[in-house]
Amino acid sequence: MKKEKILILGAGGQIGVELTLALRNVFGTDNVIASDIREAHPILKDSGPYVMLNAMDANAIHEQIKKEGITQVYLLAALLSATGEKDPKKAWEINMQSLLQLLDLGVQEKLSKIYWPSSIAVFGPTTPRQETPQATVVEPRTVYGISKYAGELWCQYYHQRWGLDVRSLRYPGLISWKSAPGGGTTDYAVEIYHEALKHKKYTSFLSENTYLPMMYMDDAIRGTIELMEAPAEQMKTRMAYNISAMSFSPKEIAASIQKHIPDFAIDYAPDFRQQIADGWPQSINDAEARAHWHWQHKFDLDKMTAEMLSNLRGAVL
Ligand code: SER
Repeated sequence: MKKEKILILGAGGQIGVELTLALRNVFGTDNVIASDIREAHPILKDSGPYVMLNAMDANAIHEQIKKEGITQVYLLAALLSATGEKDPKKAWEINMQSLLQLLDLGVQEKLSKIYWPSSIAVFGPTTPRQETPQATVVEPRTVYGISKYAGELWCQYYHQRWGLDVRSLRYPGLISWKSAPGGGTTDYAVEIYHEALKHKKYTSFLSENTYLPMMYMDDAIRGTIELMEAPAEQMKTRMAYNISAMSFSPKEIAASIQKHIPDFAIDYAPDFRQQIADGWPQSINDAEARAHWHWQHKFDLDKMTAEMLSNLRGAVL
């Protein structure tokens, strides 16, 4: 097997922390260099190679690729949906420029693979909201969604034009306990577990019956590595793949928590994020990911709740 050397950009974020740890298990600690614009996340500190790198700094990334003999790059730095709406131009600049620069470096340095995440945010209010198919009407209304969809098209273009092996997943809301989300519309589904344990109550910024597609981080990480390890001929689309695990509302996640903490109480104070959520799918059809590279989820809502509560209880974070 070809030895890979991996660089992760944005390793200090919600996905990056866990993906770094998982990739180190697969490829060996020294073969996975974590990087972020910030100091190392506490979990990554002293766990393996780490450099401070700005995902927008193409020269520094290029140097790192050459110096370390990098063969694969994971670009995870981005501004998410809610943060993006506060400064749309900045979100566009960060999300697009970091990708376009990396795609060029990928061609120039003949990287074997690039990973770049997409999102359910590519879909918009004109998309069918139930069981949203892989290929459908796509008219995103957030700058985050616009940048993710444009990015998917660029990934497809670089593959078709230069044979670059870029792979991508449309993640639903991701729920994790090791690292915190930041600036997303689905973040309530992480905050709620912390607040349930700390205060036995939570005020949701989405209304009680707002259904969104969601996934436990363990599934997302395993799916990402399985996608990246699948033979190229199984990649039948070069847009990002839909992947799905579960769909629930704030009311349903609260009920799942109440099975463990009976006096947990939830109330609702929807803010600007409600409108973003209302434009997104309620559930995702991921038949193509399941058929092409055998994607399968393992966690449903109750299994995830049990894991989240027991891990957060035991964690010294
Ligand atoms: N979790 C993301 C967000 O809410 C969706 O990709 O912005």
